[in-house]
Amino acid sequence: MKKNVASFPGLLLQKGKIKDQFYFSIKELILNGQLQAGEKIPSSRTLSEMMSISRNSVLSGLERLIDEGYLQTKAGSGTYVASIIPDEMIAIKSLSPADNKISALSHTNINPHRHVVKEIWDKTQPYSGQQMTFNIGVGCTDLFPYELWGRLSGRVWRQFRHQDRELNHPMGYPPLRRAISEYVRATRGLNCSEEQVLIVNGTQQAMNLAAQVLLQKDDEVWLDEPGYDGALGVFTAQGAIVRPVISDKQGMDIAYAIQHWPQAKMMFTAPSHQFPLGGTLSLSRRMALLDWAADNKMWIFEDDYNSEFRYHSQPLPALQGLDKHQRVIYAGSFSKMMFPGFHIGFLVIPESLIEPFKIAKYYTDTRTPYLDQAILASFISQGHYARHVRRIRKACHERQQVMLEAIQIYLSGIMVAEALDSGIHLVCWLSNHIHGTTLIEQCRKVGLGAQPLSRYCQTASERQAILLGFAAHTPDEIIEGIKKLAQVLAQ
Ligand SMILES: Cc1ncc(COP(=O)(O)O)c(C=O)c1O
Repeated sequence: MKKNVASFPGLLLQKGKIKDQFYFSIKELILNGQLQAGEKIPSSRTLSEMMSISRNSVLSGLERLIDEGYLQTKAGSGTYVASIIPDEMIAIKSLSPADNKISALSHTNINPHRHVVKEIWDKTQPYSGQQMTFNIGVGCTDLFPYELWGRLSGRVWRQFRHQDRELNHPMGYPPLRRAISEYVRATRGLNCSEEQVLIVNGTQQAMNLAAQVLLQKDDEVWLDEPGYDGALGVFTAQGAIVRPVISDKQGMDIAYAIQHWPQAKMMFTAPSHQFPLGGTLSLSRRMALLDWAADNKMWIFEDDYNSEFRYHSQPLPALQGLDKHQRVIYAGSFSKMMFPGFHIGFLVIPESLIEPFKIAKYYTDTRTPYLDQAILASFISQGHYARHVRRIRKACHERQQVMLEAIQIYLSGIMVAEALDSGIHLVCWLSNHIHGTTLIEQCRKVGLGAQPLSRYCQTASERQAILLGFAAHTPDEIIEGIKKLAQVLAQ
């Protein structure tokens, strides 16, 4: 016993209350076998003297160890290490705060692709949890029609009990599927029936379902380069090999992809607004892609990202509407038009795939919550959504112009932003000596949530750029943010 007692003081943890430090120290000795079953523990008085801590802290720690079964008392004899120490499961549950840092990924029995996904997560850091100026992927949250939504919501609640039959469909709430199919046929040129619409929790889930249903381990998938890191994560997690396909102002270079990776089973693209550069997939590339997919049985995942944030030209019809061979899985999302937490999206699925997608959705989360679906169904079918889109489009265009002008005034010669015909962020190309990642680190310190272009690149990029989201800010906030960015650069 003496050898263990001598090491008690050194085991005290650095942070937290003394009584907790004492508790963790003793438990650690028991779990790592330095104190063995049946060994006697010194009296509380001796321990408090040896460790130079109050007796109350010792008594409180001992009591907790007794309650949890690590120690036991024998009447008239003293306190002993329990003969049956809590098993491995209990040991894991009661890890000290320091031990909790042991990542779940150090466990060897998990799906090996998860290690690769963790690397993507670490590199791209998709979730910062902070609301900052110029964050990417956030729409005009200040212009969401809260009052109207509240009224529609009240009505849905009042009618709720009469709707039972329609609540539980795994493909989604039928009136919403109907409203969406009518809307996308009219506005995006889709060729579909409401039966093909599956309601999902955003594009992220849509991609996950497609990966589950359509991909096997080591299948190749084309992804734009630079491209959407969310897609990279999903397809990698499924064990697919993601091939980066260079993209330019006409979107993904389809000829390059065909030449380099003709075996691909699926491709992911955002043809209305290539993410993150903003190009539109040209009609000739669309036709080449559809022909290739039909001849080679390749699936096309069409993420119709930002198609409604278009400022000058008419959007090209969706790939889905041009597809004669049922190769396109079309995904739409409301999270940008509404607000990021509004996580409802939809898939339009070829008829032959409805059944497997329905089953995949069911076994993923059985269904998307009913109430938001019902409110959204009223919002669309009563024409509010179309009006909302027109209003947001106007506001976003104005905000984009304000940002472009502010960049010209305050950052001329340092960065160049191109005016894009669509989207909710700007790509700002930096002068040679400025490094995107270093700049972003400085930006974060002053509350600017810009992103480096390199975050979206699988291969090293030569030109440095950062992305600035403009949609969520009023013109004044945009100007203030750009001034702040100029100060960061001046330093
Ligand atoms: C290219 C692209 N597609 C889709 C999404 C959004 O998907 P969700 O519906 O999951 O919000 C994002 C998110 O920012 C994106 O960048």
